[in-house]
Amino acid sequence: MSDIKITITDREGVAHEVDAPTDMNMNLMEVVRSYELAPEGTIGICGGMAMCASCQCYVQSNHQLPEKSDDEDAMLSEAFFVKDNSRLGCQIHITEDLDGLKVELAPAED
Ligand code: FES
Repeated sequence: MSDIKITITDREGVAHEVDAPTDMNMNLMEVVRSYELAPEGTIGICGGMAMCASCQCYVQSNHQLPEKSDDEDAMLSEAFFVKDNSRLGCQIHITEDLDGLKVELAPAED
C-alpha cells in the first residue's frame, strides 16, 4: 500500500480528491502544498513546527486521528477561526488509517 485518498476542500470551497503517499513521511500540510491547493506563502509558514497555524484545517470525516500534542493544542488555542474539529495539518502524518479522510482548509489569517 502506498497511496491513500484524501478529500481536501480549499479556501474557495472547492473539494479536491487527491492521492497521498503513505511511504514518504509526509504530513497533511505538505500534501496540500504539493498539490498547490493553497497559495504559496499562506500555508506551512513555520515549516511544520506547530508554530504558525497556517496549516489549520477542519476534519470532516470520522477518522480517529492521533491525539494533539501539547504544542498543537497551544497553537490552536491562539489561532483564529478555531472550531472543535480544528487540527494543524502539519501534525497529521499520512498513514494508511487515514484513507478516505476529508478535511477543509481553515481561512488564511491575514
Ligand atoms: S505549518 Fe505551521 S503550524 Fe503547521
